[in-house]
Amino acid sequence: MKKKFVVVVTRKLPQAVEDRLQLDYEPRFNADDRQYSSDELILLAQGADAILPCHTERLSADVIARLPGTVKAIVNYSVGFDHVDLAAAKSRNIIVTNTPDVLADATAEIAMLLILGAARRASEGERLVRAGKWQSWSPAFMVGRQVTGKRLGIIGMGRVGQVTAQRARGFDMTILYSNRSRLNPELEKSATYFETIEAMLPHCDFLALHCPSTPETQNLLNAERIALLPDGAIVVNTARGGIVDDDALVSALRTGKLAAAGLDVFNNEPGNIHPGYRDMDNTFLLPHIGSATFETRDAMGFRALDNLDAIVSGREPQDRVV
Ligand code: DGY
Repeated sequence: MKKKFVVVVTRKLPQAVEDRLQLDYEPRFNADDRQYSSDELILLAQGADAILPCHTERLSADVIARLPGTVKAIVNYSVGFDHVDLAAAKSRNIIVTNTPDVLADATAEIAMLLILGAARRASEGERLVRAGKWQSWSPAFMVGRQVTGKRLGIIGMGRVGQVTAQRARGFDMTILYSNRSRLNPELEKSATYFETIEAMLPHCDFLALHCPSTPETQNLLNAERIALLPDGAIVVNTARGGIVDDDALVSALRTGKLAAAGLDVFNNEPGNIHPGYRDMDNTFLLPHIGSATFETRDAMGFRALDNLDAIVSGREPQDRVV
């Protein structure tokens, strides 16, 4: 009998995905869903052919260098791959894949939730009701910013950015975007393209970050760029924390330069996020749940397995990043 491909699965996956893995592979599951340390991961990878990690496992150059020679592929259960040192993987001829496209609807929903929640002071209001401190109604009570008809600037007009734009059009928002390259008219759908982020920022009532986290996008939203936004603008981030300079954002929220921020991703998440975000009323904070729907988590798993199937059968995986 042909030996089955051994796959280290770093986190508990949806049952349907684990069932399919079980059929075709020899999976090393993580039944407790405990986050492995790098040393544990390297130990578990002994004799394995592939690793199926999430963004929670940092596959640094050092970790990749210490993986056994049997490992031929890192098949990510994530669209982002900033947790993997691609150069290190490439130097060891390890194929790396991700799961694009399938997260777009779920993540765009969270982008809209952040826009609405930040603008309409949802978390402040919710805390008030829960704490039993809601005592009256008046015309001045809990007044926020209207979303309908405002200008939404999008940095990074890939799949998630495009779906967010589409959902925002339902609120009659005007879409502006900045992207590495201009989209064709069919995808652009009358959105206004700006060649530079700097040129777009002064026109944004809302700014949504949807670009990948790369060395070039670290601290992309810094103090200088925040200063270019209109006073009272609102920033939302569903991409990665590293795109934002936390000190600059916290300071702009404190001074009132920005009205609010909605954040689903953070530097040093989950345990060590900038304390300023928690202290302020004008932040709407979620725990990295952009892709967290049953439908999307299944789809991510099946997409990862499609990539794995291709690698095992010697075909080019559709989502190869290295
Ligand atoms: C992704 O797929 O990159 C999401 O952030 C969840 O990991």
